[in-house]
Amino acid sequence: MISFCLAIETSCDDTSIAIVDHRGFVHGMVSAHQDLKHAPFGGIVPEVAGRNHLANLLPLLDTLLQKSSVKLEQIEAVAVTNRPGLVGSLIVGIVTAKTLAQTLNKKLIGVNHLEGHILAPFLSDETYAPSFNYSEPFLALAISGGHTSIYQVAGLGDYEVLGSTLDDAAGEAFDKFGKMMGFGFPGGVKVDQVSLGGDVKKYDFPRSMIREDNYMMSFSGLKASAQRLIESMAPEEIRKNERDLCASFQEAIVDILLAKLQRAVEHTGISKIVITGGVSANTRLRERGAAWAKVNSLELLIPPLRYCTDNAAMIGYAGILRINRGEIDDLTMGPSPNSYVKDFKGRGR
Ligand code: KG4
Ligand code: ZN
Repeated sequence: MISFCLAIETSCDDTSIAIVDHRGFVHGMVSAHQDLKHAPFGGIVPEVAGRNHLANLLPLLDTLLQKSSVKLEQIEAVAVTNRPGLVGSLIVGIVTAKTLAQTLNKKLIGVNHLEGHILAPFLSDETYAPSFNYSEPFLALAISGGHTSIYQVAGLGDYEVLGSTLDDAAGEAFDKFGKMMGFGFPGGVKVDQVSLGGDVKKYDFPRSMIREDNYMMSFSGLKASAQRLIESMAPEEIRKNERDLCASFQEAIVDILLAKLQRAVEHTGISKIVITGGVSANTRLRERGAAWAKVNSLELLIPPLRYCTDNAAMIGYAGILRINRGEIDDLTMGPSPNSYVKDFKGRGR
């Protein structure tokens, strides 16, 4: 059994490094966002992301070690996201992790980023503790910029994909809508902020597949409908109604997500639920999720915002749990743009 793990996350455009223990307690985490570097391009440029990880990572490690009471000598392993993600970005984290593990004689483990998101609600720190444990069966709705899936989780490493989006991820839909509204990149948080107090019923956006008796989701019809509406409006009309436009668009996404979760609850009988990934930071989803859970007597866990979006702590927890059950990687471990086939089971994969 090891106690402390250093973790590195560089799969997309956030550089993050953390120290986590075997209970999932976070002993320090520092992250750097690259939003301003990608904003001029209206989306993430992989080459720019890789170069910025390279510039950010070692200074972040220095800062983390200065801030944390856990010393480098106490750390027994290095966990790093090695899949799925942008290969150029993953390589920066992996090479750094391998160098640290090799030179300091620590264990090494490559972690699936999505497993990290699934376990993120079970992290803890001075101000947050989860209300149930990851080892009890639960349903996980993982919603980010690149992925939107519902998993049935039976324990560590036992993840069945019940259903996924057939096209855009929920975060991607938020970002594209934000772009249409002229909010720049990334638009998701801005849509959330602007929507506050807006009329959720003013614009009737489509909820594709919502009544289908499965867990599949689709957001491209919603996006196209928003595009047509916005193109039909004069710029001043858009500005005048932006709160209502954002609130109505957001409501359609929340409706789809909660309807599919509800279906999963009904079919599986599982009453412990987690909502995780960048989009779980959304204010309206958090509010409506809490209300839905209360009405249906479900136990719902949504991590605090710092563990919703990409972060190294979740990678550290997944890594240390795997190491403590005997898994380990060697220096042949490399990046993969996709999950491994063995990572997930299920038809919706
Ligand atoms: O998990 P994450 O940080 O990165 C990926 O693994 O993709 O998720 C990022 C996504 C982006 O699409 C971003 O716009 C969205 O999460 N997001 C939000 C909010 N905060 C982040 N979407 C809606 N409301 C938010 N408050
Ligand atoms: Zn993510």
